Amino acid sequence: MAPEGSSSAFIIEGGHRLRGEITVSGSKNATLGAMAAALLVREECILDNVPRIGDVEHMAQVLRSLGAAVEWAGSHALRINADGLHSSSPPTELVGNLRGSFLVMGALLGRLGEASCPPPGGDVIGQRPIDVHLAGFAALGARVSRDGEKFVVQADSLRGADVFADYPSVLGTQNLMLAAVMAEGRTRIVNAAAEPEVQGLADMLQLMGARISGAGSHTIEITGGERLRGATYKIIPDRLEAGTYAIAAAITRGEVEVQAACPEHLLSLTHKLREAGVHVETDADRIWVQGVAGMNSLMIQALPYPGLATDLQALVAVLLTQAQGVSYIHERVFDNRLLYAGELQKMGADILTTGTTTGIIHGPTPLIGTRVQALDVRAGAALILAGLAAKGRTEVTDIYHVDRGYERIDDKLRSLGAVIERA
Ligand code: EPU
Repeated sequence: MAPEGSSSAFIIEGGHRLRGEITVSGSKNATLGAMAAALLVREECILDNVPRIGDVEHMAQVLRSLGAAVEWAGSHALRINADGLHSSSPPTELVGNLRGSFLVMGALLGRLGEASCPPPGGDVIGQRPIDVHLAGFAALGARVSRDGEKFVVQADSLRGADVFADYPSVLGTQNLMLAAVMAEGRTRIVNAAAEPEVQGLADMLQLMGARISGAGSHTIEITGGERLRGATYKIIPDRLEAGTYAIAAAITRGEVEVQAACPEHLLSLTHKLREAGVHVETDADRIWVQGVAGMNSLMIQALPYPGLATDLQALVAVLLTQAQGVSYIHERVFDNRLLYAGELQKMGADILTTGTTTGIIHGPTPLIGTRVQALDVRAGAALILAGLAAKGRTEVTDIYHVDRGYERIDDKLRSLGAVIERA
């Protein structure tokens, strides 16, 4: 649901090449994990480079509902103090709207020995089970039950264990890490998610005194039971935001330097952009992109990291509407993440889906501005990019989805020469 007082649409006048430099904000999903980690200790934690976005404000509400103090300590610094934690059960209406909020389960189980939460909400992108989370908690010795709509986990003491994750779930891995650092003994998570946001959480937990190795690979080892303390942690750059601006440069045939990024986290995207013929150069923390006429078509598969991020799949699809020939998209992480195709068709894209996980794009087709709906945060960003490349005026509605995950996307795009306003 749209937050009260939020703007409802972006109006975009297409056809302007983006040029200039843009700075990436801190990672949305890494921030949510770090905020949950701050619940593990009584001391204060300071998070730096936190993006000013809807999901962070929402997670702050979840933490406050549990008794933690959360306040901005600078334009992008968040101070969290969970000394006064008094609840192990966040309200349904808060958890129901933010999937990342389910991370409080692992943290509360670790800190208080109990937690209860309703099934988490989130974007409509396919089935999103939580069996990996619950089976992992059980392996650590927690009793898992149901009280009405809420999942309940309880443990007198947690003990380290070997945990095999049926799927390398990002939040599932993070939830287990949050509980395992408080368990006595060694935990080994096999088939763990390797996404940079998992590595980010491990870095924060290590600064807090935890012993973790292997984060960033598919086997993570945690020696639990160390006394943890407050820490100051700088959130990693948002690879998905960086990828969005890189693709925006390519689709408008502009020339953009994406700064404060981590190109190492985007190898799958830069590889595919180069295969399409786009000029891409990188150094330690910058990605320079120059779009070209007559891009090559691509076959893309969205996969767990280091494969192409499912969160960039819709954005790459929009780019491929401007490539020569037939492109093929296979979404292999979520089972219903091509719903945006219907919106792109309204703009004149020749994109067909077969089932819910594959799409075929014939290009190039000129995109035509019209009214389209942001269905989730990434699909919304993809439509904005389509609007930048389209002829005429595009209205993207329901942009609260976009504001959940992108800091001032309109201001940032305007600084590159885009014509985009809120309505
Ligand atoms: N899955 C299971 N069992 C589980 C959990 C997941 O089978 O217990 C399956 C799901 O059905 C899905 C796949 O695993 O097919 C991926 O789900 P995952 O659990 O990895 O996703 P998530 O942790 O819920 C995070 C990000 C998403 C991102 C995915 C995949 C956060 C808050 N969300 O979700 O980000 O798409 O990982 O990388 O970290 C976004 O930022 O817009 C966003 C949706």
